Amino acid sequence: MLSGKTILLGITGGIASYKICELIRMYKRANANVQVVCTPNALNFVTKLTLQTLSKNNVAVEEFDIKNYNPEHISFADKADIMVIAPATANTISKIATGLADNLLTSIACAFTKSVIIAPAMNCNMWENPVIQENLRKLHYTILKPESGYLACGYLGKGRLCKIEKIFDKTVELLNYKPLTGKKIVITSGGTIEDIDPVRYISNYSSGKMGLALADTAKNLGADVTLITTKDVCKKYNVVKVKSASDMKNAVEKEFNNADCVIMAAAVADYRVKETASQKIKKTDEDEINITLVKNPDILKEISAKKQGQIVIGFCAESENLIENAKEKIAKKGCDYLIANDISRKDIGFSSDYNEVTILDKNGGMKKLERADKMTIAHQIFEEIYGKE
Ligand code: CTP
Repeated sequence: MLSGKTILLGITGGIASYKICELIRMYKRANANVQVVCTPNALNFVTKLTLQTLSKNNVAVEEFDIKNYNPEHISFADKADIMVIAPATANTISKIATGLADNLLTSIACAFTKSVIIAPAMNCNMWENPVIQENLRKLHYTILKPESGYLACGYLGKGRLCKIEKIFDKTVELLNYKPLTGKKIVITSGGTIEDIDPVRYISNYSSGKMGLALADTAKNLGADVTLITTKDVCKKYNVVKVKSASDMKNAVEKEFNNADCVIMAAAVADYRVKETASQKIKKTDEDEINITLVKNPDILKEISAKKQGQIVIGFCAESENLIENAKEKIAKKGCDYLIANDISRKDIGFSSDYNEVTILDKNGGMKKLERADKMTIAHQIFEEIYGKE
């Protein structure tokens, strides 16, 4: 099942480490090459000799234990097809989420560009700590949540490492499931910025998180991704930074002919300032000031009219009458799908890490995706769209 695949298995210092011995055996039985990387604390729970004997490879722990001229964290990251971090402690999760690379495992994670599965295990109060939850979401990894039960610390609650079989099955699934291979997917994200003068602008509250989750998911599913965004992001796929609606239009048009799918998740300003002042506008004695706005091009509508086999997907932000407005909008824009979300709710959508959406298709079909984190929603969107192709 896993012949020819190299799994980088990161083990951190939690009591659940002993369970990972069985996971290594499962990977080996499926013919994978398993490279174990431990944090120094992991070796307080499980021995190097055990891990080495089971994985039939040297176990890497120390960052500066250089065996050849290659920096180890980079060569491990380059050679592996997937990284699995299990169990993942609160400490390691938080370090990776903030870019800290103070041991071999966290350095590899920092340099790793392919799919990562993370299976946290910790005390239930640590698991429920909002800081840990926030750090975990930041990672955009495939998270295998801990289960409830009696914990080694004596508590009864959520924090126990998920079943080893679940980690194994997810590894096989991610390694073999690349349905978007060969597809070029262009995604826009963030709110556009329309200058008023050199110090002021018109924009909106879009965080760009949904577009980013779509881009990360598309990459994990094997696509060739271009993210056109107004936000600063650093990714191993093609990122094009833009500012205004007109910049975004140019960038989308440049990619459009070669794209298989364009997803307009950006919140594009409908209007821009008619004449951007070249110098700072000074305060006067008047109580009012007028700024004339002119309409921006509707990028989604324009590309939908030029489609030649591309799948074009729009987003629809509504604060009332979500479905009625969405139905009207899909007809007006001429796109293949419209993903409607309710921006009046504080627990989803704009700026939130969560979303709840309804996917409308051009033939009148509708599918509601229940509230979930944006990576899960992104995955479900691709399944819904490409499952139907
Ligand atoms: N969109 C676009 N160009 C614009 C405005 C919006 O491409 N000038 C795209 C967005 O990226 C999104 C979709 O159109 O995919 C719907 O955006 P939304 O703001 O919900 O709709 P609008 O067309 O702006 O209509 P309204 O603001 O009246 O709801």
